[in-house]
Amino acid sequence: MEYSEKVMEHFANPHNVGVIEDANGVGEIGNAKCGDIMKMYLKIENDIIVDVKFKTYGCASAIATSSIATDLIKGQPISEALKLTNKAVVEALDGLPAVKIHCSVLAEQAIKAAIADYYTRQGLDPELYVGKLDDCCDLHDHH
Ligand code: FES
Repeated sequence: MEYSEKVMEHFANPHNVGVIEDANGVGEIGNAKCGDIMKMYLKIENDIIVDVKFKTYGCASAIATSSIATDLIKGQPISEALKLTNKAVVEALDGLPAVKIHCSVLAEQAIKAAIADYYTRQGLDPELYVGKLDDCCDLHDHH
């Protein structure tokens, strides 16, 4: 199995790892395929994701995808973060081995879960913004 240099880089030195104590959106997602878990913390101000951190009990691919996915959404409006697909994340990493694509879904789903939690805390129905969250990984391509 071959990992791209970018994957190796982000695995060896992942960005945005940790916990945000005063996060106002927290999402936790389990990967039904392998049992790995990802927790995502968001700090949102005026619809902008001003800070994001993650923790994962996951494989190298899960760590690398979360690292780059959190880079991509940091400083972005919620609407942009919701458009982030695992496909875009995989492309940003110069690809992942096919058997590892399910790992990249974890980051996308954890971000959506954290945004849903943010809306719930605002007293809003998260489904209106985020849509229904899959309980499991969606292994289909998003084209
Ligand atoms: Fe579980 Fe990659 S093997 S997230």
